Amino acid sequence: MSDKQVKVSFLPGGEQVYVLEGTTVFESAGRAGIMIETPCGGAGTCGRCRVQFTSGKDQPSQNDLDVFSPDEIASGWRLACQTTVNDDAVITIPPGSVLGQEHKIVASPANEETDDDVSPAVRKVHVELAEPTLADDAADLMRLERKIGPFKANLEMLRTGPQILRENNFNVTAVLAENHLIAMEAGDTTGLCMGLAVDLGTTTLAASLMDLSTGRELGIESTMNPQVRFGDDVISRILYADDHPEGKQQLSYAVIEVINELIAKLCDKFGVAAENIYEISVSGNTTMEHLLCGLAVKQLGQLPFVPACARGLVLKAGELGIKIHPAGSAYIFPVIGGFVGGDTVACLLASSSLITGPATLLVDVGTNGEIVLCHDGKMMAASTAAGPAFEGARISCGMRASCGAIEKVVFNNDVRLGIIGGCEAAGLCGSGLIDLVAEMLRAGIVSETGGILTGSDLPADLPEKLAERVKLDSDSKPCFVLKEATDSCAEITLTQRDIRELQLGTGAIRAGISILLRQAGLDATDLSKVIMAGGFGNFIRRSNAQRIGLLPGNISHQKIQYVGNASLQGARLALLSTTLRKNAENLARQASHVELSQDMNFQMEFAEAMIFPDS
Ligand code: FES
Repeated sequence: MSDKQVKVSFLPGGEQVYVLEGTTVFESAGRAGIMIETPCGGAGTCGRCRVQFTSGKDQPSQNDLDVFSPDEIASGWRLACQTTVNDDAVITIPPGSVLGQEHKIVASPANEETDDDVSPAVRKVHVELAEPTLADDAADLMRLERKIGPFKANLEMLRTGPQILRENNFNVTAVLAENHLIAMEAGDTTGLCMGLAVDLGTTTLAASLMDLSTGRELGIESTMNPQVRFGDDVISRILYADDHPEGKQQLSYAVIEVINELIAKLCDKFGVAAENIYEISVSGNTTMEHLLCGLAVKQLGQLPFVPACARGLVLKAGELGIKIHPAGSAYIFPVIGGFVGGDTVACLLASSSLITGPATLLVDVGTNGEIVLCHDGKMMAASTAAGPAFEGARISCGMRASCGAIEKVVFNNDVRLGIIGGCEAAGLCGSGLIDLVAEMLRAGIVSETGGILTGSDLPADLPEKLAERVKLDSDSKPCFVLKEATDSCAEITLTQRDIRELQLGTGAIRAGISILLRQAGLDATDLSKVIMAGGFGNFIRRSNAQRIGLLPGNISHQKIQYVGNASLQGARLALLSTTLRKNAENLARQASHVELSQDMNFQMEFAEAMIFPDS
């Protein structure tokens, strides 16, 4: 097999992705951010992962022939889990094949009565009011209420409303947040009603611009969290905030500034004015959310790690310094505890339809790894310091999952690389790192303790090309050369230290999983489902996650489901539905917080989990 990259385009959304030839449709869609339903775990037996090739189809598999009629086969229908793409292809994914489609919200048109289940907090109503006369001298806002129902108006609206109405011949659009009139705009602006969902991660931020009138996403931007210059993890940032007189403000300004940059970028890209963004929904861990709001974080670093507040907050975006509509608001997710924050609640919200069966484990892999065990009607939630390796940070050639990131590594007689955007490789993102170390373990290049083997310690049957990639770096330490330097790109290598960083991350998460299972009296084999979330790449291969020990090896593949950046998806849902926002509040209050560091077995579990499992 070659390193040939093929372009796959998905309909109806138009997403495009470059993947290695021979990648399954299921994985290709995952890389494009589309999660396909796989109730049978990709065994090819349930027939639920149906897709239709418009072009680029290959021969059907036996499973395809078992599921589809000859006419359907001829029309390009295939099973996403069984079919590979070997050439450029255009593939339609029907709504029924998309994971969590029941949570895909399309808001009701603003001028119709809205259904609470699918209505955002912010809506617009266009009205053409009859001008006052002697016979009809009702007050201006009462005149408006007659058309759109009762609302509350603040002093600003009382002051400016009469003038806006008259300047526009009583032809205006009312902007309502819940039942508060927050603005009146000239003419009909109902088509310009945007919101922003933000996943505020310790290492990376992702922002999604949403059209609140249709529920559709316009686009996503992501960037590194600039707070990393004050410390890689939440503890070092809490210490920085405490140790420096202006520390908390510096951390707060840094993240607000970068959110404003993301807003400006998205607005520029999609021709939207920032004033037409009326609400922002933010999910982050407790420290990130506190710092965003300028709240004290010192107590989060001291036993018993108590947050200032746990309920979701609705704040004025302008007071936080976020540049959207002057009357716009910011919804900050509720948190479960000091170290289990709004990002976990957002993940739970986004994955709620998948939490079925007697015992479901949710693992959100990030700098802070969050783990929730849903069992026996209860939810136990814990957080563990996994470090930023999964997001490409603290890795010598690491980068976040953006254009040029190696997101897939496969060994045959040499290495094959899947690169985001189909461009030249620039570094290694989290999913590529997991793949690479898993493949090195399988090939016998890395030992169970994580050492890179060299010379005669390498397996005798190791393909020559792979053996040639094991070299010594400038410190005479062994490393693995993934890609030679080119005129435009430096050499991409994996060092011994990189593997240690990965071991710290996998060890922390695995130890957390073991402790939650033990406290619930369960074994990994008792789990009916494992939901993996994370923004470290668009896709993670289950076998590789298990090979490096991130997940217990005795869970069958079929039970493991990867759902992508569920924190961002949860933030989107809270933006689009006030009902789901209430669900988020309930989820946060139902979950109980388990403090892993207080478990006497944590250190032992952690040390054990640092060792890579047997194959
Ligand atoms: S047939 Fe079940 S997931 Fe593809």
